[in-house]
Amino acid sequence: MERTAIGTVIKGGTVVTATDNARADIFIEDGLVAGIARDIKADGHATLDAQGAYVFPGLIDPHTHLDMPFGGTVTADDFASGTAAAALGGTTTIVDFALHQKGDSLANALKRWHAKADGKASIDYAFHLTIADGRPETIEEIPQMIEREGVNSFKVFMAYKHVLQVDDETIFKVMRAAARFGGLVQVHAENGDVIEVTVAEALANGRTEPKYHAATRPVELESEATSRAIRLAEVARAPLYVVHVSSAMAADAISDGRKRGLPIYGETCPQYLVCDETDYERPDFAGANYVMSPPLRAKWNQNVLLGKLKNSELHAFGSDHCSFNNCGQKELGRNDFSKIPNGAPTIEDRVSILFHYGVNAGVLGLNQFVALASTNPAKLFGLFPRKGTIAVGSDADIVIWDPLASRTISSATHHMNVDNNIFEGMTVRGRPRYVCLAVALSSPATPTWARPDAAYIKNPPRSIPLRCKEFTVSDIITIGLVQAHHDTDGSEPVETHKRVATEKHVRMIRDAAKRGAQIVCLQELFYGPYFCTEQNPKWYEATEHVPDGSTTRLMCDLARELDIALIVPLYERTIAGVYYNTAVVIDADGSVLGTYRKHHLPQVAAGPAGCGFWEKYYFKPGNAGYETFATKYARIGVYICYDRHFPEGARVLGLHGAEIVFNPSATVAGLSEYLWKLEQPAHAVANGYYVGAINRVGFETPWNMGEFYGQSYLVDPRGQFVAIGSRDRDEVVIAQMDRRVIEEVRNTWQFYRDRRPETYGTMVEI
Ligand code: URP
Ligand code: ZN
Ligand code: ZN
Repeated sequence: MERTAIGTVIKGGTVVTATDNARADIFIEDGLVAGIARDIKADGHATLDAQGAYVFPGLIDPHTHLDMPFGGTVTADDFASGTAAAALGGTTTIVDFALHQKGDSLANALKRWHAKADGKASIDYAFHLTIADGRPETIEEIPQMIEREGVNSFKVFMAYKHVLQVDDETIFKVMRAAARFGGLVQVHAENGDVIEVTVAEALANGRTEPKYHAATRPVELESEATSRAIRLAEVARAPLYVVHVSSAMAADAISDGRKRGLPIYGETCPQYLVCDETDYERPDFAGANYVMSPPLRAKWNQNVLLGKLKNSELHAFGSDHCSFNNCGQKELGRNDFSKIPNGAPTIEDRVSILFHYGVNAGVLGLNQFVALASTNPAKLFGLFPRKGTIAVGSDADIVIWDPLASRTISSATHHMNVDNNIFEGMTVRGRPRYVCLAVALSSPATPTWARPDAAYIKNPPRSIPLRCKEFTVSDIITIGLVQAHHDTDGSEPVETHKRVATEKHVRMIRDAAKRGAQIVCLQELFYGPYFCTEQNPKWYEATEHVPDGSTTRLMCDLARELDIALIVPLYERTIAGVYYNTAVVIDADGSVLGTYRKHHLPQVAAGPAGCGFWEKYYFKPGNAGYETFATKYARIGVYICYDRHFPEGARVLGLHGAEIVFNPSATVAGLSEYLWKLEQPAHAVANGYYVGAINRVGFETPWNMGEFYGQSYLVDPRGQFVAIGSRDRDEVVIAQMDRRVIEEVRNTWQFYRDRRPETYGTMVEI
């Protein structure tokens, strides 16, 4: 086993991701991909020869059971043997199922599973949680698991009655709770109630051999449960991932759901592509090695499943590795098939089987292979782009795959800690030449890479929290509105005022994020008295060029760190020297999605000499924009100041799909305050969106424009005030918007987005 050098160069291979193939070298440093280029000089770095090989992103197994008590025994592979075998087969990350027990907490289940992996795993790992009961305490723990523990997928079993099975009520509750917080529910889809009957009848009739495991679990019961789970997810408005799809009939149920536009995802496994129901007939109780649930099916199903992988109707390839020795474990069911522990050892050969029977067979393209075995699981379970692709900055989990090297699979040579292999005797072409593990490459004291022909040395384990970015279908989004006044008499240097105001806002944004806010809007007049800049020209000093201004950059970093979207009003100076009152919209990954420039049409008159609105300086025709911005959490619009000057603007934001419109400020004083509290709910109702507004209250004489407070509120599309802040102090108002209310109001109003072009096409300048 080699030791790490300063860096590692993978030379001469063909880099294959889910989207691209390119002849390129890869430079790895500190466990990360640091460079990808046509020709990278070795320059004293360690070199891995990839001539004639494909260079894949580390392959990800989203479905494993290690060290799991099941069927009256415990799986033969624990985290040590299971992850070592996985690595040698090309798998660099697994997502294992932490098993919850009825009456216990999810936190305990997770703790137990961390203890099993801690110090034993050789590759990076993450956890799904199974859910064994629907007690209120359990359901309430789901958001905590997502937000605090990095677990975002929850599996429910519709089979294994009296052991793991839960009822539809529980499934529905889990779906709703998980979806609300961006989690994904997985389902083992078989009708456990009916299986209870068919198994009892078979045994009563003396049918005890392994083949009756399959006979008592017909495809109809898998298909029925799959359809039921999809319908439950449809009602719960939840995405769903169906694990270990074994049959064409169940896969068709997934395709049907997807045709209805539902976010349903399906996984199949190597055993269902290459083994079939005749394997149960193997002599000497070897048929027991194939006892798994769902069972192996008639052979013709294999091609249908492969076709569905090709056509993206199935999306991920998991092993469902769940190994039991024939001797002493499978034997528990020698006289009763229902006592045979369910599961098979597949973690090591998953990748080879997909490559040989998918790619070599000419069915799957190389990019599809990578998508199924790595990229899609990474995206579905929140590991992407850290894992699942080869890109600068991604983990250096990389498999150098020799497509011509053959091997014959056998329990005599495999690395799993189990006495059988259901692929025994199959000769497959394609195997890893090297497997680079980011965890090892990031630490000089540990091995650089695994070689299948060398003894495997254990690396320090690393638990990877899942942060699911793919599913933002949560109904409930938490909004933070920051109202903060800024004391100034205008005498201090602008830079001082700007710094103090910024520091205050950073503190308040952090507070909002701590309280769960996902989208945070700041009050206008971010830097204080710039409204009548014409009268106080020194405040021009506070302006900045938006894309690279110091405030924008600071706020982008903060958004990325806290995983929140931010609406930041500031005073903009374009390269051409034009000033705008602007709101910058920043997404949770720290990218600037765009800007809104305060816009009044028609312009209101310029104020009297010496003061007034001077709006002609702010509202330049031609910069009108009613763009909406798709943040990670919701599609938002921004509208600064009175919308009464151009109410169609508010309408157009609705027609452009805004779910919430932020107004960081309506102006101050007198009647404005009361009018504005009427205007905003009216827009919310008329346009079917939420309004998150920060009014400015108090008086601003004599136009120093700095000493007033915000008063924040969230209004729902029914016109109700969901939350409202104080009139006279700084405050972070936290409130939740609920997409179902938007839908209800829009359906009531028959609010047609598709009328946009003909109605507003000529009015909207973007
Ligand atoms: O038979 C199987 N599949 N054993 C593992 C547990 C499960 O249902 O995924
Ligand atoms: Zn299962
Ligand atoms: Zn499983």
